[in-house]
Amino acid sequence: MRQPISVGVVGCGYWGPLLVRNFRGLPNCILKAVCDASEARLKHLSGLYPDVAGLTDHEHFLNGLALDAVVIATPVKDHYSLAKASLLAGKHTFIEKPMASSSAQCEELIAIAERNDLILMIDHTFLYSSPVRKIVEIVEAGDIGDIRYINSRRLNLGLFQKDINVAWDLAPHDISIILHILGEFPIAVNCQGNAHVTPHIEDVTNMSLTFRQKRFATIQSSWLEPRKIREMTIVGTRRMIVYDDLQTHEKIRVYDVRVERPPHYDTFAEFQYSYHYGDSYIPYIQQEEPLKTVCQHFIDCIEKGAQPVTGGREGLELVRILEAATASLKANGAPVIFSRSAEGDSVSEPGKVLRVVHAADAAGG
Ligand SMILES: NC(=O)c1ccc[n+]([C@@H]2O[C@H](COP(=O)([O-])OP(=O)(O)OC[C@H]3O[C@@H](n4cnc5c(N)ncnc54)[C@H](O)[C@@H]3O)[C@@H](O)[C@H]2O)c1
Repeated sequence: MRQPISVGVVGCGYWGPLLVRNFRGLPNCILKAVCDASEARLKHLSGLYPDVAGLTDHEHFLNGLALDAVVIATPVKDHYSLAKASLLAGKHTFIEKPMASSSAQCEELIAIAERNDLILMIDHTFLYSSPVRKIVEIVEAGDIGDIRYINSRRLNLGLFQKDINVAWDLAPHDISIILHILGEFPIAVNCQGNAHVTPHIEDVTNMSLTFRQKRFATIQSSWLEPRKIREMTIVGTRRMIVYDDLQTHEKIRVYDVRVERPPHYDTFAEFQYSYHYGDSYIPYIQQEEPLKTVCQHFIDCIEKGAQPVTGGREGLELVRILEAATASLKANGAPVIFSRSAEGDSVSEPGKVLRVVHAADAAGG
């Protein structure tokens, strides 16, 4: 019989306990220990799971319990140092989104994992959710035609973070979904925003990603909205999809609507846009907890030695876009252009941030 994979979770604040519950429920996994700097959080966890060891001593957690894998759910500023220590201790490592605070940190973590033949997975949760998987299926089947643009809004009176702005907190979800649907890395990023509550930490941002062939995506993120909104619209040449993650049963609706321009006309009187209004439909979606699928995928990858769908490279791509968004924010929304890789702007070969183009230059060409 196969030995179950023994896992420990670092960080038991808001999100960590959800990971603890999910890893604990998997058949081929033993959730052995949790580690947190806060005694109060450990006490809370030991009340829920008396059989799971709780430690503040990270050194002992890492080297004294014979763990196979470590899950990191601390604030982003600690991801890099904790993940590096975990990988250097020979543990398969799972990091919450976003992977780290800089692309240089991500690159170093990827190199350590590769050198030591360890699984490195990043929790881009939504890619494992049924609605997003269904959207990808619809897009790949060609049902909506070519994608023209994607618009995403993730807004509410949110949990203000102290170490990252709202783009680093909320936009990773949208970015990971958009890259996955479009299957390519952007050529440019613009971002504007404002810090209304905490100085220098933007609580409202508007980001746009420009892709080849005039495709683009916009991402609005806010901790300062009265209503909670989790909505994405995907506009294709033939149909359009609206994804509302707050709906219980009808999260996706596909609209058979489009507008076309006649290719040729001789007189102005003949010129007419053609509007097509067809049916809309709601695809059936199996209800399941995405985080359970995420956790199972990590354990499966360890057992099979397989590369995760959201590994270090995908984590790095996302952080590159966030870094570019930060650079653009500092330049009042001026575009940050990525260089092209030899193979083109594929998602697996992200470009490096090339330069910030100042607004005047951009306007001039
Ligand atoms: N995938 C998702 O949908 C999702 C949702 C929410 C949060 N997250 C991510 O989860 C991570 C944690 O977010 P949160 O909201 O739970 O944060 P939080 O502040 O509520 O909890 C963090 C916990 O980590 C502990 N901690 C901090 N530094 C530590 C260290 N060096 N060693 C041990 N413990 C330490 C703190 O005491 C705290 O209990 C973040 O990376 C966040 O982006 C992901």
